[in-house]
Amino acid sequence: MTQPAAADGAVIAALGAYVPSRRMTNADWGQYVDTSDEWIRSRTGIEERRMAADDESTATLATRAAERCLAAGKFPADRIRWVLVSTDTPEMWNPATACFVQAAIGAVNAVALDVTGGCAGFVAALGLAEARARLGDPVLLIGCELLSKAMDWSDRSTAVLFGDGAGAALVLPGSEAEGLAVTSLIAGTDGRDADILGKPYGGTKNPLTAELVAAGHHHKIVMHGQYVFRNAVVHMTDAAHEALGRAGLTLADIAWVVPHQANQRILDAVAERLKVEAVKVYSNVARFANTGSASIGIALVEAIQRGLIEQGQRLLTVAFGSGFSWAAGVLTCTAVPPVEADLG
Ligand code: ACO
Repeated sequence: MTQPAAADGAVIAALGAYVPSRRMTNADWGQYVDTSDEWIRSRTGIEERRMAADDESTATLATRAAERCLAAGKFPADRIRWVLVSTDTPEMWNPATACFVQAAIGAVNAVALDVTGGCAGFVAALGLAEARARLGDPVLLIGCELLSKAMDWSDRSTAVLFGDGAGAALVLPGSEAEGLAVTSLIAGTDGRDADILGKPYGGTKNPLTAELVAAGHHHKIVMHGQYVFRNAVVHMTDAAHEALGRAGLTLADIAWVVPHQANQRILDAVAERLKVEAVKVYSNVARFANTGSASIGIALVEAIQRGLIEQGQRLLTVAFGSGFSWAAGVLTCTAVPPVEADLG
């Protein structure tokens, strides 16, 4: 095992997360669709998920994670130069969700932008954050999804997969802080599969008309599940190898794989292909389900709260989602970053 390098470039100096308090179990789904705890558990490993309250929105979830992140890092909001929100379930069409978060946290000196990169958006946007932090800019990156308001509650093959939540990371120049140093980061997209997973109606291509609604169309998520599954496994495995190769490392150098929490069968299949012990692949999908681009931030916070991440370790993070897009990175722990969240 090679020794971790000292922090350079950019580091995640603090993290925060927020999940709504309302729990929805697999059994609860029986009120809405013809399903069972046994079916959901055996196909996905999911046992329950969190659902936002009626008065919560993407920006309020993201704001709570952002506030916790800044509190953990004792970092003043007015020093943030960029607020990046990765989401596929935005507050509204326009302006960016990040604008609402910027105002709510008082990041008055920041530019606020959204990234729409599917479930891989948080890791891909970490690459953008890293680039700005390398130039000296403090960045607040938030992955946030409110999927319960974006899914078709009558579609049992998609709705049961998702949950709501937000994870935030304070990304600083490596010269300024220690934490999870970004050692390598790769990302890719194959837009030929853009129509496999997404919300095809309600945009400019297919504005939702009364006729389309009458024909059964809606502005919620549609997905070809088995095709997504196969591609997730292949692309997450390849992306993991690419990020390791870019860092000049192998899986033997990695203490924890912290993947996008898509579903347990995908995580198990990726672990098998990577030939990494399943116990080294961090999973909380049973409790939070698939929270899209929020899942890796939440998983990192929880792993740190559980004392699993130690100084000197290297982590491999990898994600896949609509687009199809994927991203992976190696993070080197030069110091365990402070975190704040109530995930109990
Ligand atoms: N409860 C009970 N039965 C169900 C449910 C449900 N919730 N959902 C589907 N079924 C039924 C289907 O109707 C079908 O019935 P039929 O044979 O009578 O037609 C049967 O179960 C089998 O359906 P499949 O789609 O073949 O089930 P599969 O074993 O492929 O599992 C699943 C479906 C879980 C969606 C799987 O394909 C999968 O995990 N895909 C990955 C999707 C994903 O993770 N998307 C998230 C976004 S992208 C990302 O994060 C990576």
